[in-house]
Amino acid sequence: MSARDPLRLAILISGRGSNMAAIARACTAGLINARVDLVLSERAGVAGLDTARGMGIATRTVAWPGAAERPQFERDLEAALAGTRPDFIVLAGFMRILSEQFVAARAGRVLNIHPSLLPQYRGLHTHRRVLEAGDRIHGASVHFVTAELDGGPVILQSRVAVRPDDAEDTLSGRVQATEHIIYPRVIGWLADGRLAWRDARPWLDGAPLVAPVVEDFP
Ligand code: GAR
Repeated sequence: MSARDPLRLAILISGRGSNMAAIARACTAGLINARVDLVLSERAGVAGLDTARGMGIATRTVAWPGAAERPQFERDLEAALAGTRPDFIVLAGFMRILSEQFVAARAGRVLNIHPSLLPQYRGLHTHRRVLEAGDRIHGASVHFVTAELDGGPVILQSRVAVRPDDAEDTLSGRVQATEHIIYPRVIGWLADGRLAWRDARPWLDGAPLVAPVVEDFP
């Protein structure tokens, strides 16, 4: 049995929630010393909410009211999170940008996964852009969230070979399968105390993480 208390997670989603489900499964299987206390969506009725409920996880919806109302949205988000007081906020396909103030108040306690080898291909439609560019290598990145969009320090990347016959759906399918491995892994590192945020930067195994850990997948 682990001497540490399980890491308490709130996972924020906008849609399917396959990363959320992969993390929740890793928790219930005892592969990582963490537990998902809340799954929160900024869209009502998305599949990820049903999946979470089916796994016995509490869910909330805080509907996105439009960018002009972001301050109110974040106050509602804070109120929803206050009930569970998570150690970490895990963005998993959460498609809204959080304000600098929201992120700064939680420095080192918000994680995100992005479907590219950051710093390449920030933003949307990463698989399509990789194919259009003719890249041979693609992947996904787990990173700490900072005020800069898709710009926080990267912890772990999966590297995936682009195949000559790849289309957007085949490539995204292979990349997403690796996301379901690397996201729980990073959370496991946090839960075991191997990964920490100190002096405004990530540390892994007692040393500053100067470059992401990279794992190759077929
Ligand atoms: C994932 O592929 C994730 O990397 C991406 O959205 C997908 C969500 O899938 N995130 C972003 O593009 C964030 N910029 P899921 O809902 O099945 O986890």
